[in-house]
Amino acid sequence: MSDLSSTAWEQRYQTGDAPWDLGFPAPPFVNLLLSSEAPKTGRIAVFGCGGGHDALLFAEAGFEVVGFDFAQTAIDRANAKAHAREITSIQFLKRDIFDLEAEFANGFDYVLEHTCFCAIDPELRSRYVQLIHTILKPQGQLIAIFYAHGRSGGPPFGVKPQEILDYFEPQFDRILFQPATDSIDKRKGDEYLAIFQVRK
Ligand SMILES: C[S@@+](CC[C@H](N)C(=O)[O-])C[C@H]1O[C@@H](n2cnc3c(N)ncnc32)[C@H](O)[C@@H]1O
Repeated sequence: MSDLSSTAWEQRYQTGDAPWDLGFPAPPFVNLLLSSEAPKTGRIAVFGCGGGHDALLFAEAGFEVVGFDFAQTAIDRANAKAHAREITSIQFLKRDIFDLEAEFANGFDYVLEHTCFCAIDPELRSRYVQLIHTILKPQGQLIAIFYAHGRSGGPPFGVKPQEILDYFEPQFDRILFQPATDSIDKRKGDEYLAIFQVRK
């Protein structure tokens, strides 16, 4: 398996080997925020925020945002964008997401997921779901684009749509789970847009 350490991710950013970085927010999130199903504003954690495009989108839509990534170069680039756009309702923090539970338990109305679930070791997926549950407030929501491609290897590690439901449905209610219709060309047919809510 590829090296999934923070050093390896940092190296990928430093050498420009970051093909996941769209250079703009993911279209399914853009369109969700413009739709009648747009979530109400609140405090949102962005896991594996990378260069911060999605985090900045939600900040500009009125959310209070904290982006987390363990690659310093990603955090620096995201902070530079926020500064340049004079957005003050956003913070980018260098953290390993698996260390967030003590610091941020019950801390967020939302978690935003986009190409982080597919970037971690698949063995850690159950722990990842538990982490999301812990840092969300009661009835908090995960807003996600899952990269459900069927190829072997990774990152990005693939997942089947039913497996996603199997991970989340024991603790979350399904609010929305549908194939994304507005993915970038390279990911068309492989993305699911989801909103899962912490069950009462
Ligand atoms: C495939 S990239 C996606 C970045 C961003 N979401 C995007 O779509 O551009 C995965 C990101 O997750 C970060 N990451 C992976 N494992 C992490 C962990 N355990 N804690 C914090 N960040 C992590 C990597 O540094 C990288 O920025």
